[in-house]
Amino acid sequence: MPLSDLETKALDEHFLICSYVHGYTVSQGDAALFRQFNCAPPSHLCHLLRWYTHIHSFGRESASFPAAKKESLTLLINDKEVTIMVNNSMEAEGQGEAGQPPAPEEDIVTPHTVQASSNKGIDYDKLVDRFGSSRIDEALLERFERLTGHKPHRFLRRNIFFSHRDMHRILDAVESGKKFFLYTGRGPSSNAMHIGHLIAFIMTKWLQDVFDVPLVIQLTDDEKYLWQKDATKKDNSLEHYHSLARENAKDIIALDFDVNKTFIFSDVDFVGGAFYENVLKVQKHVTFNQVKGIFGFDESSSIGMIMFPAIQAAPSFSSSFPFIFGNKKDVPCLIPCGIDQDPYFRMTRDVAPKIGFQKPALLHSTFFPALHGASSKMSASDSTSSIYLTDTANQIKKKINKYAFSGGRDTVEEHRELGGDCEVDVSFMYLTFFLDDDEKLEEIRQQYSSGKMLTGELKAELIKVLQKMMAEFQERRKLVTDETVKQFMTPRSLKF
Ligand code: TYM
Repeated sequence: MPLSDLETKALDEHFLICSYVHGYTVSQGDAALFRQFNCAPPSHLCHLLRWYTHIHSFGRESASFPAAKKESLTLLINDKEVTIMVNNSMEAEGQGEAGQPPAPEEDIVTPHTVQASSNKGIDYDKLVDRFGSSRIDEALLERFERLTGHKPHRFLRRNIFFSHRDMHRILDAVESGKKFFLYTGRGPSSNAMHIGHLIAFIMTKWLQDVFDVPLVIQLTDDEKYLWQKDATKKDNSLEHYHSLARENAKDIIALDFDVNKTFIFSDVDFVGGAFYENVLKVQKHVTFNQVKGIFGFDESSSIGMIMFPAIQAAPSFSSSFPFIFGNKKDVPCLIPCGIDQDPYFRMTRDVAPKIGFQKPALLHSTFFPALHGASSKMSASDSTSSIYLTDTANQIKKKINKYAFSGGRDTVEEHRELGGDCEVDVSFMYLTFFLDDDEKLEEIRQQYSSGKMLTGELKAELIKVLQKMMAEFQERRKLVTDETVKQFMTPRSLKF
């Protein structure tokens, strides 16, 4: 039975002072209560919503929460006792195993959780409104082309990078002959990066080539260590994440970044000196309340997690890298990233003027979808949802043929008659990311949606494109040695 208004109000008051159903430790009581919601609670019940988002972020892991201390929770509201059952027999009808989250009322997009509220995927228009960023429009693209003399990259032409903050300010700087710098990053959570992770780096490489500007790449081994809560993982040590940073650096370098213009750093190695001074400035001017609101932290969050956003903020300021920028504190910064990273930079933009720095500008990308469909982003931990940078030509072929969600019809006759649906077809979506030829893409779209092209033929086109791209990438990756990594990761002046 759904919870009544009185019950949700009582729960909101409960979560004002308690982290979980039973005090300060998560339990099956939380998983059971969570299952009683069909969607996220409304935003005016902010304490309940904070708890909901937090439990939601555990996903399937909630199955391993410890047993609940009691079967029910008794709360007092307006002098009235309200008892809510929180035992395991409360599984709501039609819902899956413990911790299988129901679709939220609105899309959830944070650095640590991405979940669409509908199977059509994230509604990016709504996200632009909610986050208060700006759409990348024709006028911006025209200005881009006029200033650089380059046709905008396919990611820009096709709205894969769809949103920005202050991009016009960066173009103003370019117009008046000033340089800016690029900043992007990676949280090294696994050895296996997937092709979704490449999107922001491919865009960054193109921007570096076109604008001839320096680039800093942050590897947040500290973030991944602090956030890891899966006790079943073989290795949760800090050394493990630190070593992944070096491995991931090799994948990034294999995208062909220019060593003379690029500095890559691991937080564990690099944080200190001028960089740490900026971390401290950010930490002093952001309150716990602010980060709680932005990232959903609560009393049970480790103090490492609470302070981490300041470390992701610091590279936005040129004074964090005196060996690159000398004493210039006002070199504008542009950050290409997936939209999930925006919360970090909303915080950064808010604090920047308070500590005498410029706000960084941003370019946001949509998510490269999982093979199963657009309602989720590709995940590094699910091999049937992802294509990894290490996959062989044969694995790529098998995965696309077996798992790529198809917008084709049930029978060949039906398909010929009605045509396929490019809006939901994952193979077509992947082609929009990686097939550069606009005319060819449009031809495929027409052929597939009119029924002339069958799903197998569409998949064959994609397999060809991906196999070629990955073979080239893997050839370059073989050439990246420990010495190359050392060069990229040594603090030094850059040429620009
Ligand atoms: P991480 O490692 O989760 O992701 C690295 C970059 O890849 C983007 N991304 C995706 N883009 C498209 N489709 C996907 N399926 C997909 N999955 C991930 C992310 O948005 C990101 O741009 N905290 C960061 C590391 C970081 C960072 C930064 C990222 C530090 N500073 C500055 C961007 C910009 C992280 O864990 O990223």
